[in-house]
Amino acid sequence: MRLLREGRLEVAGRLVEATNMTLYCSVTLGGQSAACVYKPVRGERPLWDFPDGTLAAREVAAFEVSKATGWQIVPPTVYRDGPFGPGMCQLWIDADQSVDLMDLVRSRHPGLRRMAVYDAVVNNADRKGGHLLPMPDGNVYGVDHGVCFSAEDKLRTVLWQWRGRPLQREAVGVLAALERDLESGSLGRRLRELLTLAEVEATWMRVRRLLDTGVHPYPSEDWPAIPWPPI
Ligand SMILES: Nc1ncnc2c1ncn2[C@@H]1O[C@H](COP(=O)(O)OP(=O)(O)O)[C@@H](O)[C@H]1O
Ligand SMILES: [Mg+2]
Repeated sequence: MRLLREGRLEVAGRLVEATNMTLYCSVTLGGQSAACVYKPVRGERPLWDFPDGTLAAREVAAFEVSKATGWQIVPPTVYRDGPFGPGMCQLWIDADQSVDLMDLVRSRHPGLRRMAVYDAVVNNADRKGGHLLPMPDGNVYGVDHGVCFSAEDKLRTVLWQWRGRPLQREAVGVLAALERDLESGSLGRRLRELLTLAEVEATWMRVRRLLDTGVHPYPSEDWPAIPWPPI
């Protein structure tokens, strides 16, 4: 985290398939170095359904929730200054390129089941297959959380295979801890620095709803529930 926050950020190139200005960088501090992604606020493409200039903070908020779950879904992510101004900086993850993302998306991978719960909590509006980074050790990271935490329901994902299924006991435990942390713990305080009060309250409400229903959510009929393109 210190390396990401305080290291010297040097841009190496731009990810051309990205929709925002997403830069591949190195970050260096005291002889230590790592690859990272840097998305300056200035390079964010305006969207009709999210306020301008807020995507980087949403990515950091997504990391904070992931950290609170202990599920290692979002790679370490910080908000910091950089060569193109403030933005988000995230550790680069070397994914296992041999995994077929189409097969992974349709699988019953336990990490994806946890991610489906996580996405319902953060209200992820864009969980595509291409935003999954499978690791050689079996963990699956997710990236691109700029369009999360809307106060309105917008869950859009490729991970619907558990819809209506009971939440696993472990997930219920994690959700109960999240609820407390949002209400009166450091997670609530941190999210209020990154999001609007209404968005933090809506996050708490989504956790409450998951605990009350006890099941994985169903796709909505009121908005497209699968991202396009799905990969
Ligand atoms: N932390 C990361 N580690 C490894 N690859 C990443 C990381 N973040 C993004 N990528 C890759 O770069 C692509 C573009 O990044 P993304 O976050 O989707 O940018 P955008 O917000 O512009 O859509 C992703 O689909 C993924 O393949
Ligand atoms: Mg993307």
